[in-house]
Amino acid sequence: MQDQLEQIRTEALAEIQEVETLETLEQLRIKYFGRKGLFTDVMKGMGKLSKEQKPVIGKLSNEIRLEITNKFDQVIEKFNQHKHEHKLAEETIDITLPGRRRQIGRRHPITQVLDQIQMIFKGMGFEVVEGPEIELEFYNFDALNTPKDHPARDLQDTFYIDEGIVLRTHTSPVQIRVMKKTAPPIRIIVPGKVYRRDYDITHLPMFNQVEGLLVDHHVTFSELKGVLYSFARQMFGDTIQVRFRPHFFPFTEPSAEVDISCLFCDSKGCRVCSHTGWLEILGSGLVDPNVFEHVNYDPENVTGFAFGMGVDRIAMLKFGITDLRLMFENDMRFAKQF
Ligand code: DAH
Repeated sequence: MQDQLEQIRTEALAEIQEVETLETLEQLRIKYFGRKGLFTDVMKGMGKLSKEQKPVIGKLSNEIRLEITNKFDQVIEKFNQHKHEHKLAEETIDITLPGRRRQIGRRHPITQVLDQIQMIFKGMGFEVVEGPEIELEFYNFDALNTPKDHPARDLQDTFYIDEGIVLRTHTSPVQIRVMKKTAPPIRIIVPGKVYRRDYDITHLPMFNQVEGLLVDHHVTFSELKGVLYSFARQMFGDTIQVRFRPHFFPFTEPSAEVDISCLFCDSKGCRVCSHTGWLEILGSGLVDPNVFEHVNYDPENVTGFAFGMGVDRIAMLKFGITDLRLMFENDMRFAKQF
């Protein structure tokens, strides 16, 4: 019996040493210590031993059981250690890899120009006001002295939402809204989106305007000129030339379009300025008395000037962009340049 036990000791220890998975280890445990296991089997013979032999074999069997069990534990410990190391190795971060750079956002060129325009007029005491993009046809046209048969009302130019309701085609209706609820003096600019049925390399169905309105007693055309000169110089630089060209707008009388000397050819004539040397940047004039009557102002008592400019066009000129559609594609290669 002693020999049998010794043999089990040698074989079990050797076998456990070779084990590579937890499953085979478990199989070995059953092979030796299971109900029909080899060790269990030998121990069944204990009852037949003599009085003298019993304590000797008992001591030996305990010693061997303990030794084998310890070996099991050792191997399990080794497996766990292995698993842990493996996990650690898998989770390591290669700190030598280059990082992923985040793109830094930029302010859109149109936003930059809009902010600059607002800064300039705030500096001259103008207040910034906004109005709705969905507008009454009455405010967009009638109250601005634009007759019913005016071509701008044509479905080809104006987006109609419903009978009498349009997407505003300019920021001018905000003049009416402000005058209706405020008494003069008024000194405002109105930045905002406007809509027209247009689409080519310099026109989109949605674009941005900034409207200006100043109403007080004895306002003259020379004050309009002074304000717009100052604006043009601050916006485009001290050497810029400005000219006022007679024009017609239903809501101003007299009216003028304002041109600046061409930024691209120094007024020598190029493709951008259609070889005229001048670039049109805005419309303006003295508020038509008919407009004052619509808002219950007394045209004998108050006068004023107004102007309206296209922000997208000014941004194109300022940054030398030839295709307006580039502004709205949100391509980082484009956006990064400003
Ligand atoms: N509303 C005009 C347009 O969209 C621009 C304009 C011209 C506005 C003259 C004005 C003005 O206030 O006085 O083309």
